Amino acid sequence: MAGLRTRAVHGGREDFAALGVHAAPIDLSTTYPVPDQGVGGAALQDLAEGAASAASPVYARLHNPTVARFEQALADLEGTETAVAFGSGMAAIAAVIQAACTMIGLKHVVAVRPLYGGTDHLLTTGLLGTSVTYAAADELAAAIRPDTGLVVVETPANPNLDLIDIAAVVTAAGSVPVMVDNTFATPVLQNPAAYGVAYVVHSGTKYLGGHGDVLGGVVACSQTLAERLRQVRILTGAVLHPLGGYLLHRGLATLPLRVHAAQATASELATRLAEHPGVLSVRYPGLPGSDPHGLLGTQLRGPGGMLAFETVGDPHAVVRALKLVTPAVSLGSVDTLIEHPAALTHRLVDDDDLAASGVPAHLLRLSVGLEDVADLWADLDAALLSVRDRHLEPAG
Ligand SMILES: Cc1ncc(COP(=O)(O)O)c(C=O)c1O
Repeated sequence: MAGLRTRAVHGGREDFAALGVHAAPIDLSTTYPVPDQGVGGAALQDLAEGAASAASPVYARLHNPTVARFEQALADLEGTETAVAFGSGMAAIAAVIQAACTMIGLKHVVAVRPLYGGTDHLLTTGLLGTSVTYAAADELAAAIRPDTGLVVVETPANPNLDLIDIAAVVTAAGSVPVMVDNTFATPVLQNPAAYGVAYVVHSGTKYLGGHGDVLGGVVACSQTLAERLRQVRILTGAVLHPLGGYLLHRGLATLPLRVHAAQATASELATRLAEHPGVLSVRYPGLPGSDPHGLLGTQLRGPGGMLAFETVGDPHAVVRALKLVTPAVSLGSVDTLIEHPAALTHRLVDDDDLAASGVPAHLLRLSVGLEDVADLWADLDAALLSVRDRHLEPAG
């Protein structure tokens, strides 16, 4: 098999030579002429039953060739038979819950916290007709019931970078399919399917697109599981727009370079932050003590570009004092982004539940971008010092 960088550049481009093109065509058609409507009907039937392609796409909610190229390229990087793309990461996660649980009457989910706040809220509210039991990773097996349809984990977890042993989760889940949100690691650093994970989910909005200009989600899985996901996608209309498919596919070509560059900077920043007087603690898989199960270098091939740290002073004051780092949610973009999970991405999760799952109130999450490390450090150092000094000033 070709190397990761080669596959990232060439995946999903198999039809280019026949088409005589160098860049992926963006097919914006919403409908496709079907002069023989019997043939069109048969194609519609195939797609409605979950086929990956048919004699005609018939209608853009059923299939789109630009999106299909991205799916093929992503599946290749994740080492799965196929992938199914959605209009956002949340649409992808919702589709997995619908396909694994509600569609077949197994309406119970077991999940390990912390999870991205949106995923947590979706499970906690039971919006899709499911109920949830949150369990510690090493107590999963006891939480599984006869009606459990899905086990949900994130590793490294959003926002505190907790690491979970995927193989142990798959074993504990037994016959229940496991969904791993692989958004933080990306397929560059981790391939959950290699450990028997059924559904590998990404918010493509993050590293896959990589430039903060496309919203999308994707599930890498087997052909069999993909059939049901495609049925959900068709019926709920949770499709990825072809322009989004094009941008995500283009993003994959530089994904390994971007992830490795961000990781080198993040490693440096994490080490420096751990020594900083304005910082109480740093969460980063590469720091001593952050990997109790010894997953770094095996399951997780590198510590990645995400880190989190607890500030001594007011985290909002730290964010306000930054001049270069972008104060914004999301992650995996070319610029470095900072956000306060308790206020933003995880706002809808109960404060007590956040604290219990290892997310302290003063935790800031940093998505390290591609800037020069010296400039990022100068910005973080100055902001943290200014707030710590204010914190230390005597009252009155
Ligand atoms: C780990 C993780 N999963 C899923 C999502 C949801 O993705 P989207 O915003 O593309 O719907 C996010 C968004 O922040 C995320 O961080």
